[in-house]
Amino acid sequence: MKNQYVHELESGQIVAEKFILSKKIMKEKKDGGTYCMLEFADRSGSIEGIAWDSMSEDIKKVSVGDFVFVTGNVNEYNERLQIVVNSICQVPENEIEPVDFLPQTDEDIDKVMAEIFDCKAKVVNPYLKKLLEVFFENDDFVKNFRVAPAAKRAHHAYLGGLAVHTRNTLRLMDGLHPVYPFLNFDLLITSAILHDIGKIHEYSYKTKIDLSTRGKMLGHIVISYEMVAAEIEKIPQFPEDLRLKLLHMIVSHHGEFEWGSPKLPAFPEALILHFIDNLDSKIEMMMNELKKNRGTQREWSDYHPFLEREIYLREEKW
Ligand SMILES: [Fe+2]
Ligand SMILES: [Fe+2]
Repeated sequence: MKNQYVHELESGQIVAEKFILSKKIMKEKKDGGTYCMLEFADRSGSIEGIAWDSMSEDIKKVSVGDFVFVTGNVNEYNERLQIVVNSICQVPENEIEPVDFLPQTDEDIDKVMAEIFDCKAKVVNPYLKKLLEVFFENDDFVKNFRVAPAAKRAHHAYLGGLAVHTRNTLRLMDGLHPVYPFLNFDLLITSAILHDIGKIHEYSYKTKIDLSTRGKMLGHIVISYEMVAAEIEKIPQFPEDLRLKLLHMIVSHHGEFEWGSPKLPAFPEALILHFIDNLDSKIEMMMNELKKNRGTQREWSDYHPFLEREIYLREEKW
């Protein structure tokens, strides 16, 4: 286990620790020399770094994605902490403990999964009930579903992220259904549980969270569609209209063509799934910005590429 995690670093501290090198940008100084802007990460977060000329040969030997051993000092620059690097060298992957580097949910994953199982048990329609059972009685599926992240960067980008996002989607469905009691509750719950299951194959998450080849080629909408369609095929007399509705909800849940859905939500349950999915991912992104900047004097976050805005960071209590 590491001794120093990013979120515990304070200005003035001496650093001698392993991190993942997550950014490396060489820059020219006005006087002609070079320096390097860096970013280091572990499971607790990321911190910027800077390395001046004397480091340039060592810096050339390390690449983004490498595990590195860094020595240096923490200081504050532009209201942010950074590591001023004294030395940096690559660390072989077999000397790394994944648990130090992959961010994980701070929720109890057993409780998250238990809540999902409880919701699953509320489904009455025999075909949807059977479909959910096929997935959740498969130990390999459940093992992957428990640990998969929901994203590489955008939202719930940590181990257990898929389960937490799915649980949140279910809670929101549960809360919203009494407002629209005429909607099909079984379809809402089943689609909430299955809409993102393709993420267990979209990402690889052994030494770092990254897109898998299948994820890069197909993305989770297509993979989720494939997984659900394949299991429906095996259930005798699964009604065609129900099959189309559930598959439509999966392919339309991103809600816009430019967000990766080939179809726009075409009936109320599909529209609700999209808005709930969108709500949970955007709240998570905003909360991340707030958390990341707690303890700083900043009023606004950097421009957020997914939310396409800056986030107001003051959290005064009145
Ligand atoms: Fe999705
Ligand atoms: Fe989702």
